[in-house]
Amino acid sequence: MRILVSDSLAEEGVRRLEAAGEVDVITNLSPEELKEKIKDYDALVIRSGTKVTAEIINAADRLKVIGRAGVGVDNVDVDAATRKGIIVLNAPGGNTISAAEHTIAMLLAASRNIPQANSALKKGEWNRRKYNGVEVFHKTLGIVGLGRIGVEVAKRMLSFGMRILAYDPFITEAKAQELGIRLSTLEEIYRESDFITVHTPLTPETRNMIDEPQIAMMKPTVRLINCARGGIINEATMAKAVAEGRIAGGAIDVYTKEPPTGNPLLDQDRIITTPHLGASTAEAQINVALAVADQIIAISKGELPTTALNMIAVSPETLALMGPYMDLAEKMGRLVGQLGDSRFEMLEIVYGGSVAQRDTRIVTVSAIKGLLESIGGSVNFVNASSLLRERGIKLVESKTESANGYSNMIIMTLKTAKESISVHGTVYGSRDTRIVQINQFKVYVPTEGNLVLAVHEDRPNIIGPVCMVLGEDRINIGGMHVGRIEAGQPQLMVLNVDQPASEETMKKICSVSGVVKARTIQL
Ligand code: NAD
Ligand code: MLT
Repeated sequence: MRILVSDSLAEEGVRRLEAAGEVDVITNLSPEELKEKIKDYDALVIRSGTKVTAEIINAADRLKVIGRAGVGVDNVDVDAATRKGIIVLNAPGGNTISAAEHTIAMLLAASRNIPQANSALKKGEWNRRKYNGVEVFHKTLGIVGLGRIGVEVAKRMLSFGMRILAYDPFITEAKAQELGIRLSTLEEIYRESDFITVHTPLTPETRNMIDEPQIAMMKPTVRLINCARGGIINEATMAKAVAEGRIAGGAIDVYTKEPPTGNPLLDQDRIITTPHLGASTAEAQINVALAVADQIIAISKGELPTTALNMIAVSPETLALMGPYMDLAEKMGRLVGQLGDSRFEMLEIVYGGSVAQRDTRIVTVSAIKGLLESIGGSVNFVNASSLLRERGIKLVESKTESANGYSNMIIMTLKTAKESISVHGTVYGSRDTRIVQINQFKVYVPTEGNLVLAVHEDRPNIIGPVCMVLGEDRINIGGMHVGRIEAGQPQLMVLNVDQPASEETMKKICSVSGVVKARTIQL
């Protein structure tokens, strides 16, 4: 792998990345320079400084992965990366404690005017009255966004004797109770809090979620803290409200534009500011750099990442368990895809028996990948589902206890404009996979390499001549399976062959007397 690190990254991470390939650290690239450079790389590692736009992604013909050493990926066009099949992964958790501690440092600094008093004193001013502050004990802290960082802030501020109100539409009442805090409405938070801290990602819903109408509900003594993403609190509105004394002040670490040149928040003495330092600790920087490096090393070995944002995250344990089903589903997808002759309309997957008890999402993606690979083009675990949607192919999944006498079963049916092709497969032992039915024909075919499939009449002297054709064309047969519905009805012959049968060979097989149709399949 060739890896480009385009923002400053902890040295430990750069060294670890070397296990995945050749690493170049080139920071401060202009968008034009990055667009040119990125063509030569398989992996890009960034922090928040590099903007990975659709234009850059579209120029990145070799790129397989964008690793964000941190949490927020608002500087990456994830949709454009997904369309191009590029994995976007981050390092959640590595900087949680640092960001939570920074938030608390900012909250306490804002409550006691520490930065203002510090700079005044250093300028020779001794003014104890001017920098009188407020206690946080028995005050109300409103937390908007109770994810990793929000929770750590809550836990710590409870020990300061604060009353905590929290809002997060994705957190259950039970989880909040476990933490000893109360879930509230946003309005309660705005009306009752003495301090409000936001810990959501920046999304269309959270952009400007605190603006004029919300500030109008707040106490004049409230202090607002944003160590999440610039723009969750409208910057101009907050600066104006502080200037007019409608709120007491606040603390800001992140900005809509960084560096925040000309930002009105910087003009207010009662708003303390830091230059996006939430994750800037020795520990957090090493954590996130190593976490991203480990994921890129895994990808370089052909393994799936665990913190990808645009594909299903698969833990090594899940992968070990579901790997054989993924292989089987991918091969079955390729098989139905190659058997389908007209426009694909719907892929139906039924999971039966023991596999139905498990999380099968990654198995479904494998099936889609196999199906779309049979049409051609560049498909991978990242873009398979979105490509299926783009092609207008409907996906229907279901689960059942029954596995037709096997311990597990996958039944895949491809509905095309003209026909319906269905294949049954199973995993037996720890890793062996078999196709056990093709349409109505019962078979028992290893899911390996090249197949020759021939539907033929149920009479003697057909199998021999077909095998003769393969022998004459120097194609070795590794396995053979014949399935029939009932005596006198057509049969299906499936041959596992060591070399792919050419068009010429297939023509000869089709002209064997009694062969109705035949085709070659590559699994
Ligand atoms: P997280 O994903 O663990 O938590 C985010 C929470 O926000 C989730 O629980 C989610 O349910 C909630 N949420 C989403 N939309 C919401 C909405 N409309 N209203 C209320 N809640 C909503 O993320 P995290 O690791 O806790 O990070 C939180 C934020 O902090 C992110 O924006 C991240 O980029 C930022 N961050 C900043 C720094 C820094 O240096 N200042 C460091 C780390 C993280
Ligand atoms: C993050 O989202 O992880 C932070 O903003 C920290 C960073 O950008 O380094």
